[in-house]
Amino acid sequence: MVLYGLRGVGKTVLLSEFRRQVEQQGWIFAQVEGGSGRALRELLGEALYEPLSNIAKPSAGARLLKSLKTALSFKASYDMTGSWRFGLDLSGEPGGGADTGVLDTDLRKLIHDLADAAEEEGVGLAILIDEAHDLTAVELAVLCTIAHAAAQDSWRVLFAFAGLPSLPRILAEAKSYAEPFRYLRIEQLDERAAAEALTIPARIEEAEWSGDAIQVVVDASGRYPYFLQQFGQETWNVAAGPVIQKHDAELGVARGKNDLDNGFYRALWDRATRAEQEYLRAMARDGDAGSSSGEIAAQLSKRPESLGPRRASLIAKGLIYAPEHGVVAFTVPGMAAFIDRQIAE
Ligand SMILES: Nc1ncnc2c1ncn2[C@@H]1O[C@H](COP(=O)(O)OP(=O)(O)OP(=O)(O)O)[C@@H](O)[C@H]1O
Ligand SMILES: [Mg+2]
Repeated sequence: MVLYGLRGVGKTVLLSEFRRQVEQQGWIFAQVEGGSGRALRELLGEALYEPLSNIAKPSAGARLLKSLKTALSFKASYDMTGSWRFGLDLSGEPGGGADTGVLDTDLRKLIHDLADAAEEEGVGLAILIDEAHDLTAVELAVLCTIAHAAAQDSWRVLFAFAGLPSLPRILAEAKSYAEPFRYLRIEQLDERAAAEALTIPARIEEAEWSGDAIQVVVDASGRYPYFLQQFGQETWNVAAGPVIQKHDAELGVARGKNDLDNGFYRALWDRATRAEQEYLRAMARDGDAGSSSGEIAAQLSKRPESLGPRRASLIAKGLIYAPEHGVVAFTVPGMAAFIDRQIAE
C-alpha cells in the first residue's frame, strides 16, 4: 500500500494505526522513517530486533529459527561490532546468508525468510516505511523489486509506504513495475469525520460542542487534520465549558492561526535560504495550486536551468514537490497565503 498526500493529512497516524493493529495480532513488523540519513538496511535491521526477540522462543518452529539466523546475518552485514542474542542456539540451523553486502540480495533473503516464518506462526510480516520519498533511488528500487517478487509468489508480507504526493512518481521512476502497490491518496476529512474529530474526544471529557462552534472550526480548518487539531486544541483551551460556544471557536481559530504562522509555517519558511524564499514568493503568486517552473523563472528574470539547484534544494528540504514534470507545488496547504501575509523582508 502506498499512502501519499500533503503534510499534516494524517499519513503517519494511519501508518501507526497499521502498526498497532498488526502488533495486536502478533505479526512480525518493522516501522521506520526515511530522511534520517541512515541507510535503509540499518533502519530495518534495528527496527526488527524487538519484534523478533519477542517471538524468539525455544518452541519456535523450523522456519522461525531459520529466519532468526538470517536476521543475525543481516545484522552482521551493517554492524561489525554488535550482535543480537535471542537466547536460542541457532548454530545448527539453516538460514543466514543475508550479508553479501548487496542490498537486493540481503533484504530479499531477510524478508522472504521472515514472511515464511510469519506464515508458520499463522501471522504476517509488515514493513512500514514513513517519509518513503526520502529513501534513495536504489533503496526504493530494491523495495519495489522485492514487493514485486513477494506479490508474485504470495509471500505473507505487507508493505506500506507513506510520503508526499510525489511518492507514486518517485516509485514509478525507481522501477518500471511499481504495480504491486495499491495507491491511496490521503486528503482532507469529510464533514462528518472532521466534526467527530472535535466532538468525540470532547465527549470523553464530558464536554459538548455547540453546532455553530463545530462549524467555525471545521470551516476554518478546511478539514485538514493538522489544522483541526490546532484550532480544536486552542478552542478547548479558551472555552469555559461545559458547552463549547461559537465565540470560543472564533477565538480558538484566531489563536490557532497565529500559532500556525509563528510555528508550523514559520519553521518551514526559516528552512529556506534567502534565494529559496525568493523562489517560494514567486510560487505563492499562483496560490496552492502549483506553478510552472518556466513561469517562475520568467517572473524572477532568470533562465529556468539556473534555478534548478534552488528547486532541488527546496524539494530536498521537503517544502515543495513536483506533482508532474515542470511543475512545483507546496507540500503544506495554506503556504501560499502565509507567504502573502509576510511583509517583504
Ligand atoms: N483521522 C484523523 N482525525 C483527526 N485528526 C487527525 C487524523 N489524522 C491525523 N490527525 C491530526 O493531524 C496531525 C497530523 O497528522 P500526521 O502527523 O499523521 O500527518 P502526516 O500526513 O504524516 O504529515 P507529514 O507529511 O508532515 O508527516 C496529527 O498529529 C493529528 O493531530
Ligand atoms: Mg508524517
